[in-house]
Amino acid sequence: MRTQDAPGFAGRRAAVLCGLGGYLPSRVLDNAELSGRMDTSDEWIRTRTGIAERRIADDMSTVDMAVEAGRAALNSAGLDRVDALVLATSTPDYVCPASAPQVAAALGLSGIAAFDVNAVCSGFVYALATAAGMISAGISGSVLVVGADKFSAVVDPGDRGTAPIFGDGAGAIVLRAGAPAEDGALGPFDLHSEGEGTDLLYVPAGGVRQRFAAEEQDNFLVMQGQKVFRQACARMAESSRAVLDRAGWDVAEVDRFVGHQANIRILDAVAKKLGLPAEAVVANIGTVGNTVAASVPLALLDGVKEGHLVPGHRVVVSAFGAGLTWGSTVLRWPEVTPG
Ligand code: COA
Repeated sequence: MRTQDAPGFAGRRAAVLCGLGGYLPSRVLDNAELSGRMDTSDEWIRTRTGIAERRIADDMSTVDMAVEAGRAALNSAGLDRVDALVLATSTPDYVCPASAPQVAAALGLSGIAAFDVNAVCSGFVYALATAAGMISAGISGSVLVVGADKFSAVVDPGDRGTAPIFGDGAGAIVLRAGAPAEDGALGPFDLHSEGEGTDLLYVPAGGVRQRFAAEEQDNFLVMQGQKVFRQACARMAESSRAVLDRAGWDVAEVDRFVGHQANIRILDAVAKKLGLPAEAVVANIGTVGNTVAASVPLALLDGVKEGHLVPGHRVVVSAFGAGLTWGSTVLRWPEVTPG
């Protein structure tokens, strides 16, 4: 058996996962309710996406959900203070300023470094890389990394192409400085973007190009589902392979694949491309849908709660999202009790 002292891990101060938490709003929107609202069915949504229900934040904002998830992760780590907070979101409470300082203040962490990272569904992996870099460089000793999105605010509630897919939520982890050989030490990262694909998945209005929507429809997410599907399968598989190579791990050594939860068929296809057995796939999409930047930490949380992810497991984490953006990392799962 190889240890984590493979080339991608050696000779650096590592960022070690030591806390995990999440938050889901209480309102459940199931497929039956959606079917009453648009031309779709429970059977179509389940078989084409793997989703049975999702949560809707209603009057809670992205910051509100991020605070709850952040608090849970700090409890899990047994910490009441961290040096920095990185929030992955593409649905911030305001266009300006970033939401992270508000989350930090609500958690009693005023004064710490706090900023947002926007890489949409890959946001959490990008935020992990940013936080791990801050720790490795000695800028911070501990970082709270939160992924939170309220996509119900940008999805057309009557669009059968997008409304069944997305749900609201927040997930968080705490990283601390440690040694590369420890369980929980984040391995190498693989990160990419391709701006040529912006129009495959975007919200036309709200930014400075079109501050206020000319047509009401411009306020809502536009998605070319099939093209996104194909890209997600190819890019997550490619990136997972790259990061495994960098870490010096064989595919046969991987116990769990925690991919961005966009569609169960995407997760299964990526596992197949990698040569991983179906049991390696950690999936909670059935009950939460695609929670965007919250997707990866909520899947990790569900994996632990369901006993599907246990200490010592070799885990590949991979995500793909609008931008286009994608990225991956690896870690050996640590002993951690969700907060
Ligand atoms: N209910 C019933 N029928 C639906 C439907 C729905 N909710 N959505 C689409 N359809 C219909 C289409 O109109 C089409 O009908 P037609 O054959 O008569 O034209 C048929 O189902 C197939 O549509 P298609 O778009 O090819 O379906 P699909 O198998 O590609 O599934 C998605 C659609 C959106 C579920 C799928 O493309 C997907 O998951 N894409 C990736 C989305 C994603 O991951 N986004 C976030 C990335 S981070």
